[in-house]
Amino acid sequence: MLQLEFFPRTELKSLSDFQRLESVSLSLLDRTRLTGHLEFFQTPKANDVIRRQHSNMVDKILGFRTKYVEEMLVADARGFDPEGSHETWGPKIHDGVQTWVGLDIQTLQTPYSECLRILQLLKIKPYQQVIDLGAAYGRMGIVIGGMFIKNSFTGFEYVKARVEEGNRVFKEMGFNRCQLIQQDLFSKDFELPEADIYFIYDYGQVDHIHHTLNQIAKIAVKRPVKVVARGQFSRRIISDKHEWLDLKYEGKLEEQFSIYTAYIV
Ligand SMILES: C[S@@+](CC[C@H](N)C(=O)[O-])C[C@H]1O[C@@H](n2cnc3c(N)ncnc32)[C@H](O)[C@@H]1O
Repeated sequence: MLQLEFFPRTELKSLSDFQRLESVSLSLLDRTRLTGHLEFFQTPKANDVIRRQHSNMVDKILGFRTKYVEEMLVADARGFDPEGSHETWGPKIHDGVQTWVGLDIQTLQTPYSECLRILQLLKIKPYQQVIDLGAAYGRMGIVIGGMFIKNSFTGFEYVKARVEEGNRVFKEMGFNRCQLIQQDLFSKDFELPEADIYFIYDYGQVDHIHHTLNQIAKIAVKRPVKVVARGQFSRRIISDKHEWLDLKYEGKLEEQFSIYTAYIV
């Protein structure tokens, strides 16, 4: 049972509990309390529909303006390509980069409950650093900022408006170890920083993911790394072309991710 200013006896067991919190404007203190509570990030039921609804409610409770930002991006893209779709709009307005403009926001991002599950499976130690490659609004960073307060999170993301919105929420919540950086991961002068954990969820075209994995391989010569790959492209590219990565955990049932380790000696 959680004590909030607004709701003195709060439970987080069913979607209606989250709905109740979503229906009011909670104080910053209440929102901060919630993000430090494991159940806030756990889906009330382990199925895809509920998992997405739960994430949608968590976004609203935290005050994310994702709907507004995505609608602005779509309006911009529609101006150039009125007949387009989420397949074409991103590349049209972002120099050929697949930024998935127009895609449902719950498909674009990993559910909070899955971010939590990944971080628990990784057994991350204090002060380890996590990098998200193509981070959108930085959901993984929200879970780290709330629950893994000694860890740091950096998310690289191409779309400036997503970066600004994610950083606005990090700042408001006081998640000082979490940041989003606007960056084209495929740009020639981008040097991938060292980190303990890299997270990739089908961020761009196949050759982009391949390029990023090669950059991680160079880092894995210097130090041990873990890689979490979500989505079918990233996982297929790894199994076809990156045998230097050891599969340690393969997502079961509806889990769409796998965990790998590497230390190339
Ligand atoms: C499928 S989303 C994943 C978001 C986040 N990692 C998650 O799991 O919730 C992929 C993100 O990668 C971004 N992206 C695509 N190509 C990129 C590039 N070349 N550099 C940086 N970000 C890129 C997209 O704009 C999109 O926000």
